[in-house]
Amino acid sequence: MATTCPATLDVPRLRAAIQSMYEEVAADPGGDFHFHRGLDYAVDFLRYDRSELEALPAATTSRFAGVANPLRIGPIAPGETVVDIGSGAGQDLLLAARRTGPTGRAIGVDMTAAMREVALRSAAAAGLGAIVEVRAGLAEQLPLADASADVVISNGVLNLAADKEAAFGEIARVLRPGGRLHLGDVVIAMELHMHERENVELWAGCVAGALEEWTYRSLLADAGFDEIEILPTRIYSAEDAGVLTPGLDLDETTLKTLDGAFMSAFVRARKPL
Ligand SMILES: C[S@@+](CC[C@H](N)C(=O)[O-])C[C@H]1O[C@@H](n2cnc3c(N)ncnc32)[C@H](O)[C@@H]1O
Repeated sequence: MATTCPATLDVPRLRAAIQSMYEEVAADPGGDFHFHRGLDYAVDFLRYDRSELEALPAATTSRFAGVANPLRIGPIAPGETVVDIGSGAGQDLLLAARRTGPTGRAIGVDMTAAMREVALRSAAAAGLGAIVEVRAGLAEQLPLADASADVVISNGVLNLAADKEAAFGEIARVLRPGGRLHLGDVVIAMELHMHERENVELWAGCVAGALEEWTYRSLLADAGFDEIEILPTRIYSAEDAGVLTPGLDLDETTLKTLDGAFMSAFVRARKPL
């Protein structure tokens, strides 16, 4: 079982690879990447509301690179404080801010400066500058006070975190008692070989760092969460697996064995009162 990164994985190199990939997405969202992006993908594959997205700055929606729609996991009430981990160009962050309204707050945390800048500019352009904040930081070391958030959302990011225990522990720390966790993430249904997990490019592409469903559940329980649910939203086909694993250059037979091995999922949990 691999819950954190393998000992031989070079964490600074992994983070630098992830950062450089998302700097490229920030600079040129239409570039050649092996993961889906943009407004049509969000609407057609992930069931975002088109009119809601069209009301956001295109700078943000064109750089969307999530794997599910965390806003569909559960409601966000006016006045609440929402934290978005790995907020990227800000699509979920701005949608959350629309739900919290002027009496609430939406705080994004991201390790890539170029993404933070897009999110901040878009928040101002959308008239949400007063309630949206974007902080530099890591999922594993959140720049937030204890018990300061009502809801933590995230989309396609926890699988990229090198230290999952630290990340889940940090989420538990910043949520108030009774606070909710609403994540969209990639989850795997089979164990990957160590050499695949050690491949930085694969990790940066949302596959090698993904957790098996039962590991995900047990890490959340260890961090103190209850009411844990993991609901598949999209099972990846062999063709999807090929697109997601460019570094491996897998042959057709191997790809067939990966059919159904990865899924996007809603992850829902609550910090006990
Ligand atoms: C897959 S994109 C998702 C962005 C956004 N959630 C969305 O749906 O478009 C990953 C984002 O998470 C950030 N990220 C990845 N790993 C991170 C970590 N360990 N801590 C903080 N941010 C991280 C990257 O900089 C990037 O902006």
